[in-house]
Amino acid sequence: MSRLDEAASLISGHPVDVDAVLAATLAQRDAEAGRHMFFPTGPTGDFRALRPLQDVLWNNIGSAASNPPGGNHTKSLERALLAWAADLFDLPADDWWGNATTGGTAGNRAGLLTARDRFPRTPHGVTTAVAYYSAAAHYSVPKMLHELNIPAVRVGVDTYGEMDYDHLASVLRPEAPAIVVVTAGTTMTEAVDDPRRVTAVLDASGIVDRYLHCDGALSAIPLALDKELTTEGVDSISLSGYKFLGTPRVCGLVVGRNATRRRTQHISYIAAIDDTPVGSIDGLPIAMMWYAVATAGNEGLRNQAHAARRLAAYASSSLNAIGWPAWRHPWAFTVVFPTPPLSIQQTWPLATDATGQSHLVCMPRTSKDQVDAFVEAMAREVWHRLSA
Ligand SMILES: Cc1ncc(COP(=O)(O)O)c(C=O)c1O
Repeated sequence: MSRLDEAASLISGHPVDVDAVLAATLAQRDAEAGRHMFFPTGPTGDFRALRPLQDVLWNNIGSAASNPPGGNHTKSLERALLAWAADLFDLPADDWWGNATTGGTAGNRAGLLTARDRFPRTPHGVTTAVAYYSAAAHYSVPKMLHELNIPAVRVGVDTYGEMDYDHLASVLRPEAPAIVVVTAGTTMTEAVDDPRRVTAVLDASGIVDRYLHCDGALSAIPLALDKELTTEGVDSISLSGYKFLGTPRVCGLVVGRNATRRRTQHISYIAAIDDTPVGSIDGLPIAMMWYAVATAGNEGLRNQAHAARRLAAYASSSLNAIGWPAWRHPWAFTVVFPTPPLSIQQTWPLATDATGQSHLVCMPRTSKDQVDAFVEAMAREVWHRLSA
């Protein structure tokens, strides 16, 4: 048990130094902040303007379209944010749906639940659909497929993390409706699956009943801003708001097409339609996502994405220059390299997978100094090895 855990656990009947516990919690975060470059959560943006909203309970319960009773919601901002996302992802202006979520995982769940509801069930209540997801999909995808009791098949990936479409073709079950999860920005390599190729594979196998969900947790927004996200044939897209939009609260959203085919219910006591993946949901992070878009605009967000990619290119070439082979997809914030030695792993909060790959992620507001500090530490290690 850490000293902070110990101090924090004294909450019932013991004198507890609340100020010290809170200060230690913040110090724990501050101590690592400069090194936090290995997950897609860079330094957050400037959200000081929202401070007056912080001590208020905001509850955006119910669908975006309906306002719950009382004024303590940010539904107007939620509606504007979702409409912005639907437009960015080229969904039909008169036939889209959307929800604010608690993050990318909840967005994947909402997409997969919507998919499952599109297809018939057996007399035992089990879906007749089969879901396909790639080996590089986020762990929340198989987790949600399990929770939703959707039979699932894992599809292989190429060396760079993109779905292997030939493998998909070989494992498809032509007699069953297909739910295919594509990823725009896989967790380890930021690979992007191509919905057009998935559609071609489904066409070739004669599967007409299909639903494509795009997990765009990190990259859906930046790719769409550059018109590089394919959404044709995609039924729903989810993302994490605290990643690219840099909010200091975890949050996300999901949008999709064919609103009328989605299950909804009217709940009298909240005077609202419910079509949401959650019940109560904090309205403050939703306001933060709205604020990030409203203050930067598409042009500002696009510039942030371009700057982050330039820094990622710099990080990649700097690592290569010291002899540590690194690579990145041309659109990516993520730089992939072989897992560094133990001494680096012990001092930097690296993200590492089971195949011996690690990565760093240059997000908007990640600084060149952060990258340089890591590369310098790596250079010392490489030098140490060469001279040993
Ligand atoms: C591709 C992908 N999908 C989904 C998620 C889950 O997002 P969250 O942690 O916001 O639920 C992540 C998180 O890193 C991710 O990388």
